[in-house]
Amino acid sequence: MSSTETPAVPSLTLAGPATEIAREAGALLRSYFEHGVTAEYKGDVDLVTVADRASEKLIVERLHAAYPTHGIYGEEGTRSHLESEYRWYIDPLDGTTNFAHGFPIFCVSMGLEHRLPGLAPDADGELVAAVIYDPTRDDLFTAEAGKGAYINGRRIHTSKTPSLAESITATGFPSQKRHTSPNIHFYQQFTLRSHGVRRTGSAAMDLAYVAMGRLEGFWEFNLNPWDTAAGVLLVREAGGTVTHMDGSPFTLDSREVLATNGLIQHELVTLFKNMFAGRDLTPIPTPAEFAAMRAAAKK
Ligand code: IPD
Ligand code: CA
Ligand code: CA
Repeated sequence: MSSTETPAVPSLTLAGPATEIAREAGALLRSYFEHGVTAEYKGDVDLVTVADRASEKLIVERLHAAYPTHGIYGEEGTRSHLESEYRWYIDPLDGTTNFAHGFPIFCVSMGLEHRLPGLAPDADGELVAAVIYDPTRDDLFTAEAGKGAYINGRRIHTSKTPSLAESITATGFPSQKRHTSPNIHFYQQFTLRSHGVRRTGSAAMDLAYVAMGRLEGFWEFNLNPWDTAAGVLLVREAGGTVTHMDGSPFTLDSREVLATNGLIQHELVTLFKNMFAGRDLTPIPTPAEFAAMRAAAKK
């Protein structure tokens, strides 16, 4: 079930400076993490910290210096040169809720899009480079279109597990409008049909873990391009597939993502289709039914 790693190959070219920038931002996050930070609310339970903003500031300054003509679209508000042929999608701290609680799963995520000259600013291009850096494990995930995906310079591949029943997957839940999300139903059904579902609290880490075979699949509704851009390219370059829940192609402005090792993709799309149609739902007891069962067992 784990990934296959093959010997080191030449490092990234286009994204080369970006790997150093991600490492630098990761080191900054780590130092904030060790000292502890206070969180503010952006909305509902959507947190932000001084570390998110400081990391974005650092990344933007360094990217402008390294690639003066590139555009940048950052979660903490950066909208710069978006008409450019190349655009970076930046999540300066993916996993803020974990970070604010001292729970050590978070990362820096940077994905690069290339758009042919002349395209309208709102037209999608192709993902061409990706960097995700996890400073707590010193894991640097990189990919370039057509050149494979890597962890710390070693090639990675998605897992060879052929069925959901032998898989672990991951998902995430929204931090806004939580009462309108049906995802707990999918969480329940996937849990009943597999080795388990993880909720790591970092969509970028989830995608990187699909790429390296630590997870067979990941799905989430309501994500943004800064969450997905880098991880999607990693999964594709590692041999996996990334689509919507109905199997249609993922694009940068897609809000939902279904990433798999490719081998369980059809099974998952079928499960989503059946569940959306109200079929294939394995029942579990309600809390009241469970309480009644427990009370009856004590008699
Ligand atoms: C969040 C994380 C989380 C996912 C949320 C995202 P943030 O990003 O990726 O895993 O479930 O939907 O918003 O806020 O920590 O950058
Ligand atoms: Ca995020
Ligand atoms: Ca973030």
